[in-house]
Amino acid sequence: MPVILGIESSCDDTSASVCVDGVILSNVIANQSIHEAYGGVVPELASRIHQQNIVPAVQQALLNAKVNKNDIDAVAFTRGPGLLGSLLVGVSFAKAFALAQNAPLVEINHMQAHILAHFIGDHKPVFPFLCLTVSGGHTQIVLVKDYFEMEIIGQTLDDAAGEAMDKTSKILGLPYPGGPLIDKYARQGNPDAYKFPEPQIAGFDFSFSGLKTSILYFIRDNVAKNPDFISENMADICASVEKRIATILLNKFEKAAKQYGIKQLALAGGVSANTGLRLGLQALCEKNGWESFIPAMQYCTDNAAMIAIAGYYKYLKGEFVGQEIAPMARMIF
Ligand code: KG4
Ligand code: ZN
Repeated sequence: MPVILGIESSCDDTSASVCVDGVILSNVIANQSIHEAYGGVVPELASRIHQQNIVPAVQQALLNAKVNKNDIDAVAFTRGPGLLGSLLVGVSFAKAFALAQNAPLVEINHMQAHILAHFIGDHKPVFPFLCLTVSGGHTQIVLVKDYFEMEIIGQTLDDAAGEAMDKTSKILGLPYPGGPLIDKYARQGNPDAYKFPEPQIAGFDFSFSGLKTSILYFIRDNVAKNPDFISENMADICASVEKRIATILLNKFEKAAKQYGIKQLALAGGVSANTGLRLGLQALCEKNGWESFIPAMQYCTDNAAMIAIAGYYKYLKGEFVGQEIAPMARMIF
């Protein structure tokens, strides 16, 4: 019955989780609202707040799981990718904790962990499956052959899908992070009110920078004619942008599934919390007779439960790292 402590600090959420024998018993997430005022994550502030939050988050995770720190069999931590100063806090904490408890360390790739969040709970995909991993920094179609055997078959050539959401919301004057607000307004709007272009990119890669520019010019031109254009049409704009982003993602995802002959399609990463994308994947899978895997809301955005579950599977493989381990801001798999 391995007891794994998971630590996540790659961006602006400090999170700790306890996993016992593959079951998540706690998942504590401390958010950092300070970045709202700056319209994006300020790395230096994120790192400092991680330092304040990490010990209370771990204590709370142990308390919620009713697990004593002496019972921890391994400490799993996000090594990367992410902001170096933020990662450093989680990695240093994990190393110190492991040293004090004489427990082994397990390094985890944050993007793999988003995918492995599907192994929390009962509705688990069977290998091989395809995962569309969409977050603030990444947009990838991943062929998942085994727990740690994953192949990126398509990715963004410029901005990530979450970045496109966040930049659109900034253009609309909404606070950071904009994705959840675009989602909220989109629910009341007409997704066919405005047509934004779909980039023509070969293969399974994506591009979102052209879309961002077209949204910027569209808003600029309309505000020049009517200064209240945004406030009067917020719901329709958000619904139309959300539909375009979801369509770009799902069209490529469908193409990839057909080419690879895969019938199990999963979503992962912060943008998988998006209602339009979730409903879109369900509809796509129903149309093709495929099975969809959509993570529970608490496992979409950054969380340590996904690190703990990934740590559990690495623990079973006996893959540990030593105290010399350092964070990696850019980490591929
Ligand atoms: O995975 P995540 O928490 O952090 C990274 O690893 O980047 O993803 C954060 C991204 C942000 O861009 C945020 O705006 C987006 O996920 N996001 C959403 C929603 N919730 C979070 N985008 C659209 N709709 C949502 N409901
Ligand atoms: Zn993430």
